[in-house]
Amino acid sequence: MRYDKRMDPLLSEIAKGIISCTKCDLAENRINAVPGEGPQNSELFLIGEAPGAKEDETGRPFVGQCGKLLNELLAEAGFKREDCFITSVIKCRPPDNRNPNKEEIRSCVPYLLSQIDSVSPKVLVSLGNVSYGFFSNTFHLPKKKIGDVRGQVFRLHSTGASYLIPTYHPAGLMYNRKLIPLFVEDLRKAKYYLDDKI
Ligand code: URA
Repeated sequence: MRYDKRMDPLLSEIAKGIISCTKCDLAENRINAVPGEGPQNSELFLIGEAPGAKEDETGRPFVGQCGKLLNELLAEAGFKREDCFITSVIKCRPPDNRNPNKEEIRSCVPYLLSQIDSVSPKVLVSLGNVSYGFFSNTFHLPKKKIGDVRGQVFRLHSTGASYLIPTYHPAGLMYNRKLIPLFVEDLRKAKYYLDDKI
């Protein structure tokens, strides 16, 4: 398993817990758990849904086709992938890439919350319905589909992060490329919040 050298001891401890986790049945069939990666001082923190096949194979987040698209669109919005923390709501691949169920989310999210606390990013960007659904349930945000809530900025008070900006999941963009400019617009909004020190 690969550790990111830029992780501080606490992030590495969280990653070790994830890699050896057996709290739900997804542990039985995984090749690798995927803790996520990025620098300790990341200001932008991206949260997908769950690892896919390539991520399960490599133990790294967003390394398949949709990861390639994510990297390109991050660059278009003025970010370098290596400056961002990238992870998912759950850390092991569900069979056939089905959506994670409630029990899997419930047992896995303490890892995500610890990662957010440890990095204390200024802006969280949730990617897709599952990721926004987790935040809307946890922080009592509007229960809306991603298409109706994307690009809005929510102030968060009870996490290490300051703002949440929901947007589409890159996998959805591969099927509907018309959404790509909206996704880039949402990332640019995140950049504005970071650069303008709001
Ligand atoms: N999709 C996700 O939500 N997370 C990954 O790590 C890869 C694909």
